[in-house]
Amino acid sequence: MKFIIQRFDGNKQFEQTYELEKSEYEGKTLLSVLLRIKQTRDITLNFTASCRSAICGACAVRVNGHSYLACDTKMEELLKEYDNPDTLKIAPIKNFRVISDLVVDWEPSIENLRKIKPTIVAKDEFSPEKGCKQTQEEFDRISKQWDCILCGCCASECNKLEADASDYMEPFVFTHAFRAAYDSRSKDPMIHLKPSIDNGLWMCVHCQECADRCPKGISAADDIAGLRVMAMRKGLKDGTGPAHAEAFLLDLEDTGRLNEIYLALRSEGVLANTAKMDIAFNLMKAGKMNPLHILGDEKIEGHDDLVKMIEAARAASKE
Ligand code: SF4
Ligand code: SF4
Ligand code: FES
Repeated sequence: MKFIIQRFDGNKQFEQTYELEKSEYEGKTLLSVLLRIKQTRDITLNFTASCRSAICGACAVRVNGHSYLACDTKMEELLKEYDNPDTLKIAPIKNFRVISDLVVDWEPSIENLRKIKPTIVAKDEFSPEKGCKQTQEEFDRISKQWDCILCGCCASECNKLEADASDYMEPFVFTHAFRAAYDSRSKDPMIHLKPSIDNGLWMCVHCQECADRCPKGISAADDIAGLRVMAMRKGLKDGTGPAHAEAFLLDLEDTGRLNEIYLALRSEGVLANTAKMDIAFNLMKAGKMNPLHILGDEKIEGHDDLVKMIEAARAASKE
């Protein structure tokens, strides 16, 4: 079987093919295969790995365009996923600068983590003598996020990062901000929430790729939604993102249908939308926006039930 590995020597990127016998990859993990290649074919191949136990987060790579934690990926399952091919393509995780072969630069991500201040400052009521306790329920709210091993799979899959990383942070950074902001022992959630808002909280495009590929089952997309809820509750509603969310809800309560015309006007205002008339015309031409919707929409069937659900969700979130 052929393993085509994307390599980078500091100057140029190229692909190198390594052939392994079935006995060399059968019953192994993807990381064992990489080690086998390094030990028996090419000592110059670079990649990172440490724990071999899905704990350190160092061994994430892409196979056929998707991110995997190499030490936690069994070759049998991987090959089955791709219908037992005779070739696999291995590359470094995406949306990181490549340093060498499969090794990427984590410094910018660590800088982003620093921005959201991932350590908590405990409330004044806690002390070294009394401890810093929380209830099981309070712990459960953030326990999943503690599982993050900083492997980068979510960032590698993130469509927003790929489109424009200049105003956004890696999905796992928001997960750590959620963990700190929702920690019942934290004196001030704003310390974590505000830098999240300033660094792209409302820019997520909801593609859910981060949740799909996380080897620990964490949904950074949900954590982003949780931080947005906190921002709204705390009155941090400046900007297009919060206005868009409120316009969305208004449409659901009004008719149950999203009215693209009202949504745009309520989110960005009349002035901003005047400058985007060409986009509106293109959407109308493609049948994605109905100009008659300026007159309003009919209610969807079952609208009363939808409103009841929204009210129940509101009541539950106040509890
Ligand atoms: S849902 Fe948001 S954070 Fe997750 S991958 Fe998509 S754009 Fe990135
Ligand atoms: S959230 Fe999941 S995919 Fe992202 S870095 Fe943490 S463990 Fe890896
Ligand atoms: S080697 Fe540590 S997570 Fe894979």
